[in-house]
Amino acid sequence: MSIDFAVIGGTGLYHFPGLEDIERHHVDTPYGKPSGDTVVGTIAGKRVAFLARHGEGHSIAPHRINYRANVWTLHRLGVHRIVGINAVGGIREDMGPRVIVVPDQIIDYTSGRFTSYCDTDTAIEVKHIDFSEPYSAALRAALIAAAKEAGVAVVDGGCYGATQGPRLETRAEIARMRRDGCDLVGMTGMPEAALARELGCEYACLALVANWAAGCGDEAEISLPEIFANLEAATASVPKIVGALLDPGG
Ligand code: HPA
Repeated sequence: MSIDFAVIGGTGLYHFPGLEDIERHHVDTPYGKPSGDTVVGTIAGKRVAFLARHGEGHSIAPHRINYRANVWTLHRLGVHRIVGINAVGGIREDMGPRVIVVPDQIIDYTSGRFTSYCDTDTAIEVKHIDFSEPYSAALRAALIAAAKEAGVAVVDGGCYGATQGPRLETRAEIARMRRDGCDLVGMTGMPEAALARELGCEYACLALVANWAAGCGDEAEISLPEIFANLEAATASVPKIVGALLDPGG
């Protein structure tokens, strides 16, 4: 049975609940090892692939993730639609902790990551993908409709600023990102989105706000236990949205 789509889980989502008839796929890629096995299972009669971006035990830091191997693996398994779940800090006033956002733009501040499959080693023809709209409009719309059907509030649109990490940002960096037009800040949204586009996969992001970005909102110091509590609360809505995405009207 073909795989309907894939979820790449971020911080706080290492196993996807409710998958039945599970198979584990260990894929070797020309780009090295992915973050772990891909788990394929059934929800609502549809096959879904799940890959934990940081590894199942959260052992891989954002700047060390093999984004190319991860996206390649999913593509090799026949996936054409990918939803990336990403923990983020909120910059815009309406994007405080526990808010879920379906962003529509990206600014990439990362450095030193492998950002393309156009590599001499693997002799893939050089492609200059159109990335003016970095996320799939169709998949974004489907996610927003699914959230509505599942009764989960999401914010439609926002600019995701991708930073290198693993440290959090300074107030000055966030102030600059705000001036640039970023609404959210996270460490894992790029190059994943661009790599998916290079392989012809539809890709969209569900950004879960874990904390106010440095100097935003209540300007309180960012505390890790709070981040994890907020993420846990937001993550609880993800299976509901994915369930509605797989089984619209079901
Ligand atoms: N900055 C960058 N990445 C993040 C943050 C943040 O404040 N919170 C969760 N991921």
